[in-house]
Parts: sequence; structure tokens; C-alpha cells
Amino acid sequence: MKSVPPQPVSATSGIGLLGLGIYLPERVMTNEEWTHRVETSEEWIVARTGIRRRRIAATSESTVDLAVAAARAALNDCSLGPGDVAEIIVATDTPEVSVPDTASFVQHRLGAREVPSYDLAGSGCAGFLQALDLARSRIVCGVGPVLVVGVELLSRMIDAHDRNTAVLFGDAAGAAIVARDAGAAEILGAVAGTDGSRGGILGIEVGGTRMPVTLELAQQGLHQHVTMNGREVFREAVRRMTEAAQQVLAKCGVAPADLALVVPHQANLRIIEAQSKMLRLPLEKFAINIQEYGNTGSASIPLALWEARRDGRIAPGDLVLLTSFGAGLHWAAVLLRF
Ligand code: ACO
Repeated sequence: MKSVPPQPVSATSGIGLLGLGIYLPERVMTNEEWTHRVETSEEWIVARTGIRRRRIAATSESTVDLAVAAARAALNDCSLGPGDVAEIIVATDTPEVSVPDTASFVQHRLGAREVPSYDLAGSGCAGFLQALDLARSRIVCGVGPVLVVGVELLSRMIDAHDRNTAVLFGDAAGAAIVARDAGAAEILGAVAGTDGSRGGILGIEVGGTRMPVTLELAQQGLHQHVTMNGREVFREAVRRMTEAAQQVLAKCGVAPADLALVVPHQANLRIIEAQSKMLRLPLEKFAINIQEYGNTGSASIPLALWEARRDGRIAPGDLVLLTSFGAGLHWAAVLLRF
């Protein structure tokens, strides 16, 4: 009689977040300051977005400074050093320079070995979760640990005269060490998707081959101009993040009620409230820090996750759901077990 073969351990089991780190620039910019620069009000910004203040990088700081500070903090968090890193992925839409990518600056400044390092760019706020998913697959290929950084210095890339976008963003960096390790917050599942047909509702149109930067365009500030249909982005963000959440929960056989915490991308408090309604989960189950930092793009999820852990909102064994949405349109959801 044939014996029953042992159940194979999934190639992804045991892979997760081993360390987390963040970096926040010191300077706090209040809504009141924006009222002196564009036609807006404290009341409008708080009521329509939930944002009260954001951090702004010093003029002496650039993307790599924020990224490396967060990366060092993540390595310290799990008692690893730069020499232990086997691959680096940097998710950013505000790179150090146009070419080469920010990851090569991070590899050098961090003092990592000559390991493969690359950027994941263009997906805006969805970048960090896409990078986590990618890091997990690299570990399945035998690489690891992987350093994943989400970093944005959005204050330097936006049109400071455009009230529709300027007040929304802030600067920050967050990092995670992804590894196969018994001590890691295991990635139980991940889903991601793209709908390029709707890419026109959010982007920076000047600066590519279709519309290279010219003196004339730069004089109009269009090289830094985020084109955004706010209402459409809002609708898509709610729909896509909710669907991605439902898909990853179904994939892992987890009911929403089993979740200890949801860490959504922090773009707008009303987007988070709508997600809470659609998932039928009380708002208390959501990590919310948009009031402090605004929308920090690909840094927003590691930052909110790090703060939730610091504040004792995550206990061992807890199921934590991460959801993100960004330009592209791209979206992703990741389920973790701490
Ligand atoms: N201060 C005062 N008034 C403003 C401001 C401002 N800073 N910005 C826009 N307005 C005005 C508009 O001009 C408009 O005026 P009008 O009616 O005279 O034309 C009015 O406010 C209402 O505009 P709406 O678009 O209806 O405002 P809404 O309630 O949708 O809020 C917002 C706008 C905050 C942009 C919202 O749509 C949103 O958050 N969308 C998601 C966008 C987003 O998060 N983008 C970031 C990148 S993608 C991501 O991270 C998911």
C-alpha cells in the first residue's frame, strides 16, 4: 500500500516582516500655513480630508536621506546589519535623481553589499505593498532578507499653487525587512491589480517621452503638477481597496470580523470611513494617522503599521490587513499574522 505523502509546506509559508522602521522629517507644517499660500481654510482641509498637519523635509534632505534613515531603523528593529541585506527594493515616485534609481543610492549609503537593488516607481501610494509582494516572491526564489523601503518627498514634487493637491501631501519614509523567519509577521496572502484604462485620473504628465520638460512647461510649474480628478480617485480608491481586502481575506479563509486591525493607505479620512462601512468593520479597527502626516504615498502604510505596533495595537497572533491604492491605477492588499 502506498503511504500518503506528507502535506507540502507552502513555498511562501513563514515569510514575513521581520523588522520595521520609519523616518519623519522634523518640520511640522500646519493647515494654517497653507491658508497663507493658497485659497483654502483649516475647516475645509479638516472636513474634506481629515488632515491637520504634515511633515516637510529640510532643504538639506533628499529622498535617500529619508530612505536610509528608515532602512537603518528597520535593520535595528530586527538586530540585523546592512551586510545582512540580500536585495533592496525602493518604492518611490519622488526619486533622488531621474537616473540612476534611488535604490542604488540607498545600497551605497547604507553600506550594503553589492546586492541587486531596484526601484518600483509610478504606482504612487500602492508601491509599498507591491514591493512587499515582490520581496516575498524573491524569498521564494532563495533570496533574502530583502529590504523594502517606501519613501516620498512629495513636498518637493507638487505644485504649491494648486490647492486641489498641495494640501494633501507630506514627506516620510518607512521600511521593512522581509525574511523567512519564525519571528516574522507572516504574510498569509497578497493580492494586487492594475487598471491602466483609468490611469488618466491621477498622474504627473510632464517629464516623460510623451511630453519632455521644456523651459516653457517648467516656467508654468507643470513639471511638478499632479493631475488629479479627486472625486474619481476617491471612488476608485474606496472600491479597489475594499475589493482587494475582500479578495485577500477570501483567499486566506479569514472573515473580516477576525481582523485585529486594518492599516489602510492614508489618503483621505473619508476614504477610510467608506472602507470601514463597506467592510462592515468599526472605524476603531482601522489605524488612522492621516491627521498627523497627510498622504505620504508609498510611506503611508509602513508608517501607520509602525505606529500601530508602537501604540500596542498589535498583539502576537493578531491578523492585520494592509490595503493600498495608487496611480496606475494600481491596488494591493496584504494579510499579515503577527
Ligand atoms: N481648499 C478649499 N477648497 C478646495 C480645496 C482646498 N484645498 N481643494 C479643492 N477645493 C474646492 C474645489 O475647487 C471645489 O470647488 P468648486 O465646487 O467651486 O469647484 C470644492 O472644493 C469641492 O471639490 P470636490 O472635488 O467635490 O471635493 P471633495 O470633497 O471630492 O474633496 C479631495 C477633494 C480631498 C481631493 C477628495 O476628492 C480626495 O481626497 N480624493 C482622493 C484624492 C487623493 O487621495 N489623491 C492622492 C493620491 S491617490 C491616493 O493616495 C489614493
